[in-house]
Amino acid sequence: MKVLELQGVTKTYLHGRVEVPALRGIDLSVEEGEFTAIAGPSGSGKTTLLNLIGCLDTPTSGSIRLGGRELSALNRTQLAYIRRLEIGFIFQTYNLIPVLTAFENVELPLRLLGRFSEAEIKKRVEAILGEVGLAGLESRKPIDLSGGQQQRVAIARALVKEPKLVLADEPTANLDSENGEAILALMRQMNEEKGVTFLFSTHDPRVMKYARRLIEVRDGRIEKDERR
Ligand SMILES: Nc1ncnc2c1ncn2[C@@H]1O[C@H](COP(=O)(O)OP(=O)(O)OP(=O)(O)O)[C@@H](O)[C@H]1O
Ligand SMILES: [Mg+2]
Repeated sequence: MKVLELQGVTKTYLHGRVEVPALRGIDLSVEEGEFTAIAGPSGSGKTTLLNLIGCLDTPTSGSIRLGGRELSALNRTQLAYIRRLEIGFIFQTYNLIPVLTAFENVELPLRLLGRFSEAEIKKRVEAILGEVGLAGLESRKPIDLSGGQQQRVAIARALVKEPKLVLADEPTANLDSENGEAILALMRQMNEEKGVTFLFSTHDPRVMKYARRLIEVRDGRIEKDERR
């Protein structure tokens, strides 16, 4: 099943009066269960692309279909709902809420959805924290966790609602190579065990080698797209 389809997507930013073309016509189709890296030099458009797919920004032209729905046909409320329900985000800088514990950070997306009982929330959060290797650290706040552990909390937070698609913008950029590889191995494990579709950007060749599909972006265009 197709999770995502982009046709002729462009994005031009206006910087003062200067138009900055960030994406110059992206065609891309992602099937359920794929594990895809987007690679490319700084400024090539990786973050722009992930932000458009994640409903955080809108394209200048072209079509983005997520789970069969055309995003440009939806209003802000509908987009926010899709983002909450169907997309998990993992950020470079983890973006955990500092005053909340690991458990509370992970349960937050479920609480925001407002459709789960207390018992269901507890069960799901404990299960996913165990799966990412954080059993026993549930009551720690982010400041008392290592970078690698914080990123594991962020992965648990992205996965706890069982989204159709997980987007990650340079998820290992703030980690040393050992922790970076461990995070990729964990993402790949979640992909294989749960069938979650991952789309992540990276500069790092050590991270790219975990990808099953590698898309190379240059100057706002896809230059190469290979499955392996
Ligand atoms: N808000 C903005 N306003 C103006 N120009 C922007 C904005 N965001 C990005 N750009 C420009 O769009 C282009 C693509 O940027 P983008 O952040 O998507 O690249 P990237 O591949 O993620 O780079 P990096 O690897 O450094 O994160 C760049 O030329 C950038 O300067
Ligand atoms: Mg970027």
